[in-house]
Amino acid sequence: MKRIGYLVGAVVALTSMIFCIAHASGHANAEGASIFGIKIPHGSRDWRVISVAHEKGSNNDLRAILGNDVAIKAYREGKLPFPDGTIIARLAWSYVSSEQNNKVFGRPQSFVAGPPINVQFMVKDSGKYAATGGWGFAQFKDGKPADEALLKTCFPCHQPFKAGDMVFTHYSP
Ligand code: HEC
Repeated sequence: MKRIGYLVGAVVALTSMIFCIAHASGHANAEGASIFGIKIPHGSRDWRVISVAHEKGSNNDLRAILGNDVAIKAYREGKLPFPDGTIIARLAWSYVSSEQNNKVFGRPQSFVAGPPINVQFMVKDSGKYAATGGWGFAQFKDGKPADEALLKTCFPCHQPFKAGDMVFTHYSP
């Protein structure tokens, strides 16, 4: 009887331990929030275009950089650093040759956005994200947030570009 008691106790302890570990590392939870507590901002797919870019190499993507109203206003007024409330989205799709369009041109010259790769966000909140230069970072693939290890790579790479408040993309008029 005593043994069963111990066993039950052990199971309870183990379960709560697992729950605690899951909870501590689990900011990437079912609600879709990342370690910075960022969810995909509602309506972000409808934001205005800041610019576009193409990366070769292992990414080989096409990307659109969009901004919320605060971001667009700051860009147009040349305001740096970006004010709190700024959110910049980076959407990436694979870079593919378009057979459909090439038929019209008669030669392989058309490249378009293929399937989506992922979406990244930079959210400015100088109080909340003071430890990372005022920016919170997030990445989602198929709506799912990236893990903590990946999100730890964002700030160190963006941080050296202080002249642009850590934002590389320039506004394309
Ligand atoms: C190895 C360096 C590097 C890492 C790591 C990195 N970025 Fe970037 N990021 C860049 C560069 C360079 C650009 C601009 C070039 C481009 O868009 O092709 C950029 C662009 C962006 C943009 C568009 C705004 C801007 O700064 O131009 C966002 C948003 C962004 N990154 C978020 C993230 C997030 C979130 C992570 C982590 C998951 C991340 N980045 C990791 C280098 C990096």
